[in-house]
Amino acid sequence: MRILVTGGAGFIGANFVHTTHETMPEAEIIVLDKLTYAGNPKSIEGLERVQLVVGDIADADTVDPLVKDCDLVINFAAESHNDNSLADPSPFVRTNVEGTFQLLEAVRRHGTRFHHISTDEVYGDLALDEPRRFQPGDPYRPSSPYSSTKAASDMLVRAWVRSYKVPATISNCSNNYGPYQHIEKFIPRTITNLIDGVRPRLYGTGENVRDWIHVRDHNTAVWEIINKGRIGETYLIGADGEKNNLEVTRAILEAFGRDPDDFDLVADRPGHDRRYAIDNTKLIEETGWQPEFTDFAAGLADTVAWYRENEGWWRDAKAEVEAKYAKTGQ
Ligand code: NAD
Ligand code: TYD
Repeated sequence: MRILVTGGAGFIGANFVHTTHETMPEAEIIVLDKLTYAGNPKSIEGLERVQLVVGDIADADTVDPLVKDCDLVINFAAESHNDNSLADPSPFVRTNVEGTFQLLEAVRRHGTRFHHISTDEVYGDLALDEPRRFQPGDPYRPSSPYSSTKAASDMLVRAWVRSYKVPATISNCSNNYGPYQHIEKFIPRTITNLIDGVRPRLYGTGENVRDWIHVRDHNTAVWEIINKGRIGETYLIGADGEKNNLEVTRAILEAFGRDPDDFDLVADRPGHDRRYAIDNTKLIEETGWQPEFTDFAAGLADTVAWYRENEGWWRDAKAEVEAKYAKTGQ
């Protein structure tokens, strides 16, 4: 089996490449990745049956021959950071919308099975105190340039399934944590700040809630959907991991043996989504998937250990990331 993994040098894609390489000895994996600031070839180096092609998913001439040669395409490639999308939305439109369009056109031409990786952020946000969680059929109500371009990409996939019978599924997952995540994101930024002896930065009041899932659990769910999901369906992936940002910061401070109040409150994100929460009933009922990482403190401890042991992987990016946040007072 030949599998095309777009964005496979990024956080979730690289983890997907590692587990797939380990668990499917017959699989040949082709990674198509533009190697933006968020892609790191070191994340997937040394894997025998993995080939990296450096290129853009929005470039039809690059995409077509790769899709033609593969049995399955999984699209992880995206511009993925909300704060960056607020500063400059244009690469988000190009990669997330135009890129998904080009992949869909190629899978349409070649009749290839397609799985599209998306986010729960397409559903907008929930109130902090409402009992409801996101359901697969909820209306799309994205808030940021990031989530609106992901929403647009999902709409394209749905339309290509209906109009052209493209064999595709979509998954919308909650916030991931684990190894190989870029240090601009909340959990790795906080961990690497603490490694450097710098106080974590909490946006606003720290009360915003995210539904955390370990990246390995996200990826086992993706395989379940590819194998057992129904064509044209949307599946929500989440592992009942709701926590507010203050709780997460305190859990990381505890892992470092630091005082629970050792953080700074900084400028809030404009349009900051209050709460994300996933109802995973459909995924569990239809595929039988279960998460492995149900203890957040243990998953976090492994993640902290990974960033301590792999300083060479992130160190070069740290000063630039922090300089960028300094400009917005964050
Ligand atoms: P990431 O930013 O770490 O990685 C994205 C990868 O895509 C990078 O390797 C980058 O070089 C590559 N890329 C960017 N533009 C490209 C282009 N035009 N052509 C080819 N490659 C390109 O992102 P991530 O956190 O691994 O997210 C992967 C997917 O999962 C995204 O679609 C994101 O929306 C979705 N998602 C992420 C989370 C999360 O918590 N990180 C949660 C739910 C869904
Ligand atoms: P992030 O990792 O950017 O993911 P997303 O925007 O997709 O949820 O941020 C997670 C949460 O953490 C979000 O509510 C913003 C907040 N945050 C901080 O409080 N401090 C930080 O330094 C960062 C980067 C994020």
